[in-house]
Amino acid sequence: MTQHCTLTLNGNADPLVELPVLSGTVGPDVIDVQTLYNKTGLFTYDPGFTSTASCSSSITYIDGEAGVLLYRGYPIEQLAEKCTFLEVCYLLLNGELPDKAQMHTFESTITMHTMVHDQLTNFFKGFRRDAHPMAIMVAVVGALSAFYHDALDIKSKKDRDISAIRLIAKVPTIVAMCHKYSTGLPFMYPQNKLSYVENFMRMMLATPCDEYVPNPVLVRALDRILILHADHEQNASTSTVRLAGSSGANPYACITSGIACLWGAAHGGANEAVLNMLIEIGDVSRIPLYISKAKDKNDAFRLMGFGHRVYKNHDPRAKLMRATCHEVLTELGLHDDELFKLALELERIALEDPYFIEKKLYPNVDFYSGIVLHALGIPTNMFTAMFAMGRTVGWIAHWDEMIADPEQKIGRPRQLYTGATQRDVPAQHGNAG
Ligand code: SDX
Repeated sequence: MTQHCTLTLNGNADPLVELPVLSGTVGPDVIDVQTLYNKTGLFTYDPGFTSTASCSSSITYIDGEAGVLLYRGYPIEQLAEKCTFLEVCYLLLNGELPDKAQMHTFESTITMHTMVHDQLTNFFKGFRRDAHPMAIMVAVVGALSAFYHDALDIKSKKDRDISAIRLIAKVPTIVAMCHKYSTGLPFMYPQNKLSYVENFMRMMLATPCDEYVPNPVLVRALDRILILHADHEQNASTSTVRLAGSSGANPYACITSGIACLWGAAHGGANEAVLNMLIEIGDVSRIPLYISKAKDKNDAFRLMGFGHRVYKNHDPRAKLMRATCHEVLTELGLHDDELFKLALELERIALEDPYFIEKKLYPNVDFYSGIVLHALGIPTNMFTAMFAMGRTVGWIAHWDEMIADPEQKIGRPRQLYTGATQRDVPAQHGNAG
């Protein structure tokens, strides 16, 4: 039986409109307001979309109150422990975990697409060596659409699938190229005998002069970090990808729009901001100063890596990231790492502070990721590019789901207009004649 919600205006006994209430498999029901404007001449108003479901989706579910994150129904904790990142990619794209044969085919297909067109290297040469890697990522990933005219028909599932493979396979190569370009070291070609993460770490950290021997503990840690970043429902960058895709733009352009949005410090740029904040704090004795700055309404400073629009309990990814951080630092003999100790103390103090407790501000996925990436030898300005590498599969999965959704139409929000009403240009301004 379909539920309904009745809207009345100014207490009038006669209802203004009756709207259907829809239920998903789990989570909050939604009021279907698609007919609201046609029936009442009213818009809904929701800057920041704090109470708005922009679509229906079966990919990822978050329960912010309980601190639950499911990819296609599987808890993030189990996926992080039992699966590889490429298995999670297959799951997000196809809805089910792969069997051995499916995994072999998927992995070998990805491997065979890790190289980029050699002319793509020319795009790097236009940048200064100190260009931010995200600026280069936006340019180079966006340029990919110019190299694959053979498969840009978004209505073709086959074309969409090959675009997904190309992006998942090539983004790590491009990320590593961004780093190499900034150092003046030569680009490293992928090696097909290596796994996805081993390949990335070699392209990122090795040179042609030495044999690269991957450290299995560090490879597993980075594989897990990519799992933790793979998807997160309708976050800002995923919503950007969906909106760009709703116009019919090609997948490379849509993923590029997601990269651009992720760059912001309130979103994926937070991991870089966390490390810079910890370096600025410098010592546990200065933590109280920064906690008070974060609480001061007149101070723009925010405790980076804390708070979340959805999680009003702990972010399950932060706990897993903290454990991975400890594992990597121990493996590298850095368990006395000053930044990690500072982060642990900052988390302890913040979580005991009434301001953070009352506003339900907990560490999010970005709080510890910077420390572990730093320990892995990844430069700070590369952290958001690493986030983009993990999130590419989530963006693609949502883009593909949206294109296939029969309800899909171009996204075109309206507004509450607060500007000038119609008026005439004063006569004395008749410059045109
Ligand atoms: C990601 O959406 C996703 O799923 C994103 C993400 C993903 O995987 O895609 O999870 C990845 O982006 C994680 C978030 C990374 N960003 C940061 O760590 C930056 C610091 N955090 C804040 O900027 C903030 O918490 C947001 C942006 C994350 C959430 O902002 P909201 O939901 O709009 O909440 P808000 O800004 O309205 O804050 C509510 C209150 C405010 O105080 P009041 O106006 O109510 O008095 O809490 C305060 C804020 O001032 N507050 C903070 C704070 N975060 C919120 N105060 C100090 N330090 C902070 N970090």
